[in-house]
Amino acid sequence: MSKMLYNDAIMERDNVVDIEDRAYQFGDGVYEVIGVYDGEPLMMDEHMERLERSARELRLTLPVSTTELKNNLEKLVEANGLQEGIIYMQVSRGIASREHEFPNPETPAVTVAYTREEVRQSDVEDEGRPAVLVEDIRWLRCDIKTLNLLPNVMAKQKAVENNAVEAILHRGDIVTEASASNVFMVKNGELYTHPADNYILNGITRRKIIQLCDELDLKVNEQTYTVNDLLNADEVFISATKLDIIPILRVDDQTIGDGKPGKITKQVLQSFRSLYQKSVRNKV
Ligand SMILES: Cc1ncc(COP(=O)(O)O)c(C=O)c1O
Repeated sequence: MSKMLYNDAIMERDNVVDIEDRAYQFGDGVYEVIGVYDGEPLMMDEHMERLERSARELRLTLPVSTTELKNNLEKLVEANGLQEGIIYMQVSRGIASREHEFPNPETPAVTVAYTREEVRQSDVEDEGRPAVLVEDIRWLRCDIKTLNLLPNVMAKQKAVENNAVEAILHRGDIVTEASASNVFMVKNGELYTHPADNYILNGITRRKIIQLCDELDLKVNEQTYTVNDLLNADEVFISATKLDIIPILRVDDQTIGDGKPGKITKQVLQSFRSLYQKSVRNKV
């Protein structure tokens, strides 16, 4: 059995969930998923910053500084000898008698983290996959990475039942993001992605792609676009930690472009892959 982090102790992964942990009863907490390559977490500082922001927006006080948390997570990776995979970590508003309102301010938040070995699926990245469209029925603070993921779960299940890799979400006409990833489309040589407002989670991978595109002299328009624009795009791809970039070849019954991974998508994927080559990663 691998080890886990419980508050600031590394211990055997065991049944430590308290039934009155607010994460369990209300989804009252925040989380992060961090990719690990060659035994090193990728873009850890960006993940810690986003965690801090999510916690602040929910008025949840993190029990330790993100510097300390980062150290603890690095210790966990080492304890598990993880080379390639992910760190999952969450902080809940703590354990208290079940009442909806915040517990007594003295109640400490609870941090848990574990690692999972996961080998990258470069065949999926190279080949691309289909996606389905699902109405976005989430709350209006999708910018916060909270544990509340039921609409995302329902959407992803629809994707799986239709042999698709993702469910692309739309609020009415506007494409927002996907159930567990961000969405980019390419039209006439330029990229488009929903602006980082309250309707989407500002993905760490999304931000890195925008930065890489700048270096590649590719224009990224952070602006809304419609379902019709998506269906008529030259290329579409999704992005998220660990799955990185997956070309989308079809959306529902509509083939995207020529039904193959597009030129710009491949260029961005290539550039993203270079991030986890050790020499480059040290500069990320
Ligand atoms: C709803 C949603 N959007 C976007 C993302 C991509 O974020 P990141 O690139 O930080 O993994 C995720 C990741 O899980 C997500 O759940």
